[in-house]
Amino acid sequence: MSNEKKTFYITTPIYYTSGHLHIGNSYTTVAADTMARYKRMCGYDVMMLTGTDEHGQKVERKAQEAGKTPKEFTDEIVADIKNIWEVLGIHYDKFIRTSDDYHVAAVQKIYQELYDKGEIYKSEYEGHYCSPCESFWTESQLVDGKCPDCGRPVEKAKEESYFFRLSKYQDRLIELLENNPGLLQPEARAAEMINNFLKPGLKDLCVSRTTIKWGVPLPFDERHVAYVWIDALSNYLTALGYKSDDDGLMKKYWPADIHLVGKDIVRFHTIIWFAVLMALDVELPKQVYGHGWLQMNGDKVSKSKASGAACIVDPIFLAEHFGKDAVRYFLLREMPFGSDGEYTYDGLMNRINADLANDLGNLVSRSTAMAVKYFDGKIPAARVSEPVDEELLSLTKTVGASAKPYMEAMSFSLALTEIFKLVSRANKYIDETAPWALAKDPEKSDRLATVLANLFEAIRVISNLLIPFMPDTCEKILSCIGASAVAWDSCAQEGCLSGEIAVSPCEALFPRIDVKKELSAVGLGEDTPAEKPAKKEKKKKSSEPSPAAEIGIEDFLNVDLSVAKVLECEAVENSEKLLKLKVTFGNEERQIVSGIAKAYAPADLIGHNVVVVKNLKPAVIFGLESFGMILASGQGENIHVMFADESNPGDRIR
Ligand code: ME8
Ligand code: MG
Repeated sequence: MSNEKKTFYITTPIYYTSGHLHIGNSYTTVAADTMARYKRMCGYDVMMLTGTDEHGQKVERKAQEAGKTPKEFTDEIVADIKNIWEVLGIHYDKFIRTSDDYHVAAVQKIYQELYDKGEIYKSEYEGHYCSPCESFWTESQLVDGKCPDCGRPVEKAKEESYFFRLSKYQDRLIELLENNPGLLQPEARAAEMINNFLKPGLKDLCVSRTTIKWGVPLPFDERHVAYVWIDALSNYLTALGYKSDDDGLMKKYWPADIHLVGKDIVRFHTIIWFAVLMALDVELPKQVYGHGWLQMNGDKVSKSKASGAACIVDPIFLAEHFGKDAVRYFLLREMPFGSDGEYTYDGLMNRINADLANDLGNLVSRSTAMAVKYFDGKIPAARVSEPVDEELLSLTKTVGASAKPYMEAMSFSLALTEIFKLVSRANKYIDETAPWALAKDPEKSDRLATVLANLFEAIRVISNLLIPFMPDTCEKILSCIGASAVAWDSCAQEGCLSGEIAVSPCEALFPRIDVKKELSAVGLGEDTPAEKPAKKEKKKKSSEPSPAAEIGIEDFLNVDLSVAKVLECEAVENSEKLLKLKVTFGNEERQIVSGIAKAYAPADLIGHNVVVVKNLKPAVIFGLESFGMILASGQGENIHVMFADESNPGDRIR
């Protein structure tokens, strides 16, 4: 119907609750939020979905280690994740958890339908069983032929399982991907799916497990729980009320316009998910978009690869430090269309300084400052145009249209490049027209008003087009120039060139970052120990601890002593003294290398709580990264670790 609003349904993957989010996996959600905001500005009724993927063995085990039920454990992680989205300015319309009752009920109905249709059948799953861990492993999961969890030998075993007839869909999937180039974007990923996965042949997929309790029980056989990927993928439907009493949202929003996912999970979304939808006779989504990765040294960003300082990949730290809009801008500017982008901490800061502090921030602060200085913030209506204005104004009128195809294709980096052409052009216009010179001549007052009005028209269009990327900053700029947001497409027409313009100062949108200082603050500077380990090591060896001078309580409080539980521990090869430990503070895991091997065997420590100097600068010991120090007294064989078994992991000691 013509007067019905166009709808747009965009989804992010639902995030695992077993680990912690970093700046890399925030990319998907920032991109989806930006797309959703853009579509809203184009008049769409938008539904943006995100959430959490909570079931499975990993969460089950982590919860147990933390002494919590899986639900208690995931409740905390979900609160953390929601907080990250809030800090990054993500506006989602719905947050789904796979532990939500309605989702569980709908997944059961999905399984029942597939079972009733003969799409799921019972068979045997051949694998390797580790009896101490009660875990089934496939050949490829084994490490050196042993259990990947405990390292003990495994035995060949068969497990009763249910299988989904995935192989049946092989030809339909090939045809689908070959004949619908828009379905999987960027296009190169379709060839990858066809050649690497579909053509070599699909096997039926094992879709149930008996060794896991934290999952969705199958309605036709309660000893089994649903395979986590079927459980997880179904969220895109169940969030809309699929197989519930109220499927109004299904009718309104399905098929999804975009499933936005990272390239690592494209396979699940185009092979397994498409086949399940076909089996259910549900229409396929219009598009799956597989974006690239944010990388560090050519590898996917992760906390442990963060060159010693985990905070530099922590979205909360970055947003609080540099502002959420700057972080959002960086992510979308740095990752080119569908490919990978390189992340470094100084790269992030240099990008913010160059594009935001210098170009955009300067343009706005210079222009508003001149308006206040020369006209007391009230630019009179009188105008005198000159040929030099033309280039700026014509770019102002066309920039939205040039950025639009890139926005539609989710090529955010290219869209930003287009919009920032106007930022540069406007800065150049200031140099060309030299308003400060015009201001010296009272006769040129009308011309000065024209120059400033033209600048504000450019700024108005720029900040309108940048709303999807940097909503708060743009709102601030628009309000400084007395303008408000308008629809994307009419942005250039609804100019405020005529009449008086009321301007207030708009300073320090993006304060310049002192890159050197910030680098050394996180231990990445030129003179930090990580860079010059040899010198520091020597010093330490020659000096015994000296009697400590008096300190104030504030000095003591600067030391973060926290309780951590030892999850894993092993001897460091070729070292008599060192142990390598994995500890958890309840919601954060770390590797620590500790010189206590002469007094403790790994088994003496695993499962116990110890005290860790948590904010100690990371160090490289024997080639291994160590994030913190375990408290102990004594030396050699007489070392005594300060155990804290009565306290909880994460508790701070003071
Ligand atoms: O995969 N750069 O969840 P997840 C860019 N639960 N994107 C990255 C990234 C990086 N360095 N690291 C991770 C899952 N991502 C499943 C999804 S959907 C039915 C189930 C992206 O928490 C990753 O590609 O491991 C994915 O899109 C998202 O973060 C969530 O990853
Ligand atoms: Mg993943």
